[in-house]
Parts: sequence; structure tokens; C-alpha cells
Amino acid sequence: MIEIRELGRYVGEAVDLGGWVETKRGHGKVAFVVLRDGTGSVQCVLVKKQVDPATWDAFESLTQESVVLVTGEVRADERAPGGFEIGVSSLKVAGLAAEYPIQPKEHGVDFLLDHRHLWLRSSLQRAGLMVRAEVEQAVHDFFYGRGFVRIDTPILTGAIGEHAGTLFETDYFGERAFLAQTGQLYVEAACPAFRKVYCFGPTFRAEKSKTRRHLTEFWMVEPEVAFADSDDNMRLQEDFVSYLVERALENCREELALLERDTSRLEHVRPPFPRISYTDAIGRLKAVGSEIEWGSDLGAADEQILTESYDLPLFVYNYPKQAKAFYMKENPDDPRTVLCDDLLAPEGYGEIIGGSQREDDLDRLRERIREEELPEAAYSWYLDLRRYGTFPHSGFGLGVERTVAWITGRRHIRELIPFPRLMNRLFP
Ligand code: 4AD
Ligand code: MG
Repeated sequence: MIEIRELGRYVGEAVDLGGWVETKRGHGKVAFVVLRDGTGSVQCVLVKKQVDPATWDAFESLTQESVVLVTGEVRADERAPGGFEIGVSSLKVAGLAAEYPIQPKEHGVDFLLDHRHLWLRSSLQRAGLMVRAEVEQAVHDFFYGRGFVRIDTPILTGAIGEHAGTLFETDYFGERAFLAQTGQLYVEAACPAFRKVYCFGPTFRAEKSKTRRHLTEFWMVEPEVAFADSDDNMRLQEDFVSYLVERALENCREELALLERDTSRLEHVRPPFPRISYTDAIGRLKAVGSEIEWGSDLGAADEQILTESYDLPLFVYNYPKQAKAFYMKENPDDPRTVLCDDLLAPEGYGEIIGGSQREDDLDRLRERIREEELPEAAYSWYLDLRRYGTFPHSGFGLGVERTVAWITGRRHIRELIPFPRLMNRLFP
């Protein structure tokens, strides 16, 4: 059996294909079946007089999403999508499908999410997830190419990684355990062993809001680099994001076209990205009438206003201490703030990265843990990293679904993960 993507190599030859029926139509003498095999789709043509009655009967019994095995000749045909069609000599039904719930018409999003296990087969969903797969591969290629070592971090953890508000807690043989909100504390520990490291895995947050940019389980890439300051960190981020976009443009042309993505908005995504300090950002927001006060984190609406005037991702750097996590390094030039950045994607997508230089001073870090009322004992191992050879280091986390939503131009990040986990959704 061959794959549809290879048809070009078999023009004029007989081949065997297997796949799922997308559509069928016939007019008594001639019939057409569009077959999808996961690598592409192709139209199969049956001429009643030229096929045996069993094949014609099989065609007549076909329902949407039935699985068929087809033998036929590959013909080049400029009018056909993909450039080829199959002149069928035999067709067998391998798995007749019951009436398929997803029809070529508009369905409500709840219905589609309830049928996510089937919705995955639809062309726009396939295209979005193909871009995701390419971006994930590009993540590994980028870091491998730069000599980073991949570190797999635990999902069951004892210490709170980010903040207490969004923890999934579980019983761990009588002890409290949390699903990881981040792998960061562990990649920091791996830095003295390997210098440049990254982790890439699922992370969990009990987000009690239903927004288009929050999942309760999402995938995050987190590099950590020894001897990198906040500035080096932002440079790594702009190189990284530019590379991900470039790879999608290079290898996902068809998918982006199907998704009707205006790729001219992505073509110029190259370093350097513009930067604005948090304090200046607040000034700019107030100037356009926002009621935000210095000290609060930026919301989606603020991010939208700030990014409107740029067509590149925008760095907002050095947020107030109280708006960010305990591990960020105090800014020596303005101790009210920390050395950190958020990278905001344009076109209304907003934050795709959060990064910072880490607090490397033992006493200051311990003080921050106390101020945040975090259980100090759970961090004794983390504080060891400052006791036994502390060093300047920085890192960041990029959310895969938000990044792919921006690259594909999809509004909701739930479409860019195969099986989204949302506040009200644990199935399928
Ligand atoms: O800004 P965050 O919370 O940063 C961290 O977790 C750091 N420990 C990363 C690091 O420095 N190693 O999250 C990083 C990114 C966000 O910018 C966003 O893209 C994504 O993770 N993210 C989410 N994506 C989907 N659903 C959610 N609920 C998300 N929360 C964060
Ligand atoms: Mg953040």
C-alpha cells in the first residue's frame, strides 16, 4: 500500500491505497469517492462498465468516514486537487462507518469539542495540528543546534512552581503533591550540570476562567542558560520565536493557505523585536485612557492596546515585583521592579512568553519566598542551588498553543492542542 503524498512517483501505474471516505457522488455510470489517508486526499473515479459488480455495490454502500481499500491507476490531472486522481479497478469496504455526526455544515463549538476525537479529522483542524507538529519539531532542532541539553522535568512536584492560585493538588501517599505549573525550578538545577538546558512538556494550571487563551493543560518550552542576563535572555527569545515562524512558513505553506493565514504578517518576523519597559507601557496605556495603575499585571486588553502599533512581537520588560513570581531577580537600578520580560505577539494575541533573570542571591531569594508566604521547607533544595555555587542565569517559558494560535491565525488556542483540557472539559 502507498500513501497519497507519494502519488507523483506512480503516475501511469496501478497502486493500492487505504483511507477514509470524505465524500462520494455518482450518476449511474460514473462515480467519485474522495479518499483521505492522513497524508492527503485524492479523488477516485469509478466507471460502472469497467469495474466488477462487487466494487460498484461497495461504492453504493459507502458512508462518510467508511474505510476503503482501493486499487487503481494513478493519473495526472491538473484540475484535480493535488494534481492526481485514481482510475479505480477495485474497491473494498474495510470498515463501514455509522452515520457520521460531523457533516459538512456549521456545527456549534460545544458540539465539536464533544466530538473532538472525530473533529480532529477535519481539514482545518488537521492543518492547525500539522503546524503545531512542525513548531514542536523546530523547538527541538533550534535548541539541539545551539548545544542545549534536553532535561525532562517531573510532573508530580512538591514545591509550587509559579503561584498558589492555580494549583492542581493530588494526594501522594498521604503527602500533598501538585501537578507541575512549570519545569523551571528543575531546569535551573540542571544548569550547573549542563550549562544550557531546556525542558518541553505539559504543564498544568487550574485556570478558573474560560478565555480563548487559557487551557488547564498546556505545553511549555523552558530553556535556562547559565551566565545569561536578562538582555541575553531577550535576544535568545527573539531568535527562537523568529526561527519557529520561519520553519512554519517554510514547511507549512499548504496548511497556512488552507487556514487562510495572511502570511505577509509573518514574513518579516525577524530580530530585533521592539522593547518597552513596563513603566513606559503604563504611561502609554494611561495616555490612551486606560485606568491601569502602576503595580498591576497587564491584562489581555492592555496587551492588545500596546501591540496594536507594532507588527512584530513586543517585549515588555521589568515589571513590578508584586506582579511577578518569587524567583525573579531584583532590578539593581530600580528595586521596585524585577529583571524580567513578557513577549507579546501582535494581532491581538498577547503574551506568548514569560521570562526572567533569576534571583541568585540566597538571602534575597529566601526573603522573597517568605514574603510570598510559600512553605520554605519545600524550597530547601532550590535554595541549595544558591548555596552551592550560585551563578547568574536566565530563562523563559514559551506556551506552544498560544504561539501556534498566532502563527496559524486561529482565535482560540483550544484548537491547537489535540485534546484540550478546559475548566469544563475532561472528555474526550
Ligand atoms: O508566564 P508564565 O507563567 O511563566 C512561567 O511559567 C515561567 N516559569 C517560565 C520560565 O521562565 N521558565 O508562563 C509562560 C507561558 C506564557 O507566556 C503563556 O504562553 C503560557 O506559558 N501559558 C499558558 N498557555 C495556555 N494556557 C494557560 N493557562 C497558560 N498559562 C501560561
Ligand atoms: Mg506570564
